[in-house]
Formats: sequence, structure tokens, C-alpha cells
Amino acid sequence: MPPFAPLVFSGVQPTGNLHLGNYLGAIKRFVQLQATHNCIYCVVDLHAITVPQKPAELTAHIREVTAAFIACGIDPKAHIIFNQSQVSAHAELAFILNCTARLGWLNRMTQFKDKAGKDRENASVGLYTYPVLMAADILVYRATHVPVGEDQKQHLELSRDIAQKFNLDFAPTIAEKGFGEAFFPLPEPLIQGPATRVMSLREGTKKMSKSDASDNSRINLSDNADVIAQKFRRARTDADVLPTEVAGLAGRPEADNLVGIYAALQDTDKANVLRQFGNANFATFKAALVDLSVARLGPIGHEMQKLQADPGYIDSVLKDGAGRARAIANANLDAVKDIVGLLR
Ligand code: AMP
Ligand code: TRP
Repeated sequence: MPPFAPLVFSGVQPTGNLHLGNYLGAIKRFVQLQATHNCIYCVVDLHAITVPQKPAELTAHIREVTAAFIACGIDPKAHIIFNQSQVSAHAELAFILNCTARLGWLNRMTQFKDKAGKDRENASVGLYTYPVLMAADILVYRATHVPVGEDQKQHLELSRDIAQKFNLDFAPTIAEKGFGEAFFPLPEPLIQGPATRVMSLREGTKKMSKSDASDNSRINLSDNADVIAQKFRRARTDADVLPTEVAGLAGRPEADNLVGIYAALQDTDKANVLRQFGNANFATFKAALVDLSVARLGPIGHEMQKLQADPGYIDSVLKDGAGRARAIANANLDAVKDIVGLLR
């Protein structure tokens, strides 16, 4: 495999209710990676419409995710922030990769099964091919590293399978056109840290999710200090004190989740949190967790509100980012067309 220039790509769907799981599992990592990598961060609006969206809400949510990116510390000048639908190369490459991906591969995707539910016949075709569009998002930039939460692991593996099959299927023309042994890198998932799967505050075995009917199940990035305090105080726990070692969290999903959240917010690990709070009861620990959360999330929520009051600015960030993204994506898409044998 030839060396590919390191490039980070990731996406977040504009489906409302951005929460602590999105922040700790993904966006916080996006911010950190800016120091060491070129980064492209995308508001994946086409992915959002794989399930029904109200048009006006979708527009507002695209701006909301963009505001969150900026408020959390992504620099739209040094890196790229844009919304997917402004760069048509994503959809074009997705079609080409639809012809590389196999039905059998897509049939194994657990997220489709979860989202389609019992009434699978009535799910959109877009929901079924969602992971191929995701592969196209990444591969159209020939990105090498993809920071995501745990729930995206299977989709990343599929992206790698698609990249590898394309490289193999077209190996002769890839070499002939001067791209060596492989045109696409095999993108590496970056799923790291103590909060790659933040759980619901109401049920420690269920993922924190934008679509949970109970708003108390999640901390939204837009929640104010009082709401954050109230939700953590009401968060489900067990009756024991906190253990002194990480092994003691086994079989205690709620405790494990809150300790993981604290660790991620404090940029440390669970062992260190338990050195501070081992033997503490939940009332004590939750009070500290509220203080830390409010200190970390308060300024983000505030900044998001300010940014969202100026949609003109947000739209200009997306337009500028889309222009720069398009230049990279179109060049790679042209190369793909040449490799596949399509005239342009
Ligand atoms: P989505 O809202 O589905 O577009 O997710 C955006 C990013 O947040 C993806 O990288 C997800 O893996 C991540 N994410 C979503 N929910 C959680 C969660 N509960 N814990 C950790 N990461 C999450
Ligand atoms: N499927 C991802 C999610 O729901 C969002 C996404 C779309 C994505 N395209 C991507 C993430 C490309 C990483 C890279 O969270």
C-alpha cells in the first residue's frame, strides 16, 4: 500500500438534539485532531433525509450542527466545515461505489436493521444504501483517519471493504493511470477514549440518542446549567458507592457511564476518576459531575446561541468550506472516472 497523506474526515447528521454523546464520542475528538492533521468536517444532510425530515427543521439543524462545530473549537479557516449536499461529488461517487458494494455486505448492517425496524419493506432505499454514501464521503477525499463513536465501527469496516474491492477490481487501470497499487486508502477508524459510547441517563444499557423520546435521557449541547444539573441529579444509578478500581464498574452500566463521562470531560481516564471519587456516594459524585459539565458545556451552548443568531455568517462558512472541499473531491472523482473508464 503506498503512503497516503494523512487526512481526517468525519460527519455528523443534522437531525437535531445534538447531545453529550455526539460531543464526547465525536466532536471533541474532531477538535483535538486539528492540531496534528488536516481535517474535513461535514454536516451530512443527505444522510439525514434517509428518514423523513421537515424541510424548515432540516435547514435549522444544518445550521445548528455547523454552529456546534465552531462553538466546540473547530477552526473553519484552518480546516474545512461544509454541508454534504453542496458537494455533488459525494453522491456521484456513492453511485459508483453502489456498484462495488455487495448486497450481502449491506444486509449485515445492524444500523439499517435497527432503524428500519419491523416494517423493513417501507424503509427508504436511501436508508439501505446509507453506508455506501458514508464510504463515498470518506473516500472522495481519500481520507485516512475517521474519528467516530463506537456505533459507527461497522460502517467504517464496510468503507474499508469497499475501498479494498475497488482497488482490486480496478488494479490494472489504477496502476496504468499512475496511482500505483491502490487508489483509495483503507480509512482507519479512530474510536478512542473513555466515552466512545455514551449511554442514556435513564437506562445504562441503551445508547444516548437524538431520537430518544425522553429528553431526560440525554444532555443536549443547548441545555442550560439548571437543566444539566436536573438531568444528572435524576440520572439512574445503583445503590452502591463508587468503586476504587475500574474492574469494580463491571456489571454497573450506569456508574460506568457517569464515570466515563466525567473522565472524558476532564481529559483523563476512568482509573484516575476513581482515584478521586472511589468510595464516594452518587450524590457527591453527581454534584462534581454537574459542576464539571456546566464548566465545559456552558460556554459551548452560549457560543452556539450567538452563532445561530447570525445564519448569514454560518451559511458563509458552509459555502466557503464547500468550495474548498469541492476542489479536492472533484479532482478525486475525475480520477475515479478515468480509472473506471467513464469519459468526461
Ligand atoms: P450522528 O448524530 O448519528 O450523526 O452521530 C455523530 C457522531 O456522534 C458519530 O461519530 C457517532 O458515532 C457519535 N455518537 C452518536 N451517539 C453517540 C453516543 N451515544 N456515544 C458516543 N458517540 C456517539
Ligand atoms: N453515519 C454517521 C453517523 O450517523 C455520520 C456520517 C456520515 C459519517 N458520513 C460519515 C461519519 C463519514 C464519519 C465519516 O454518525
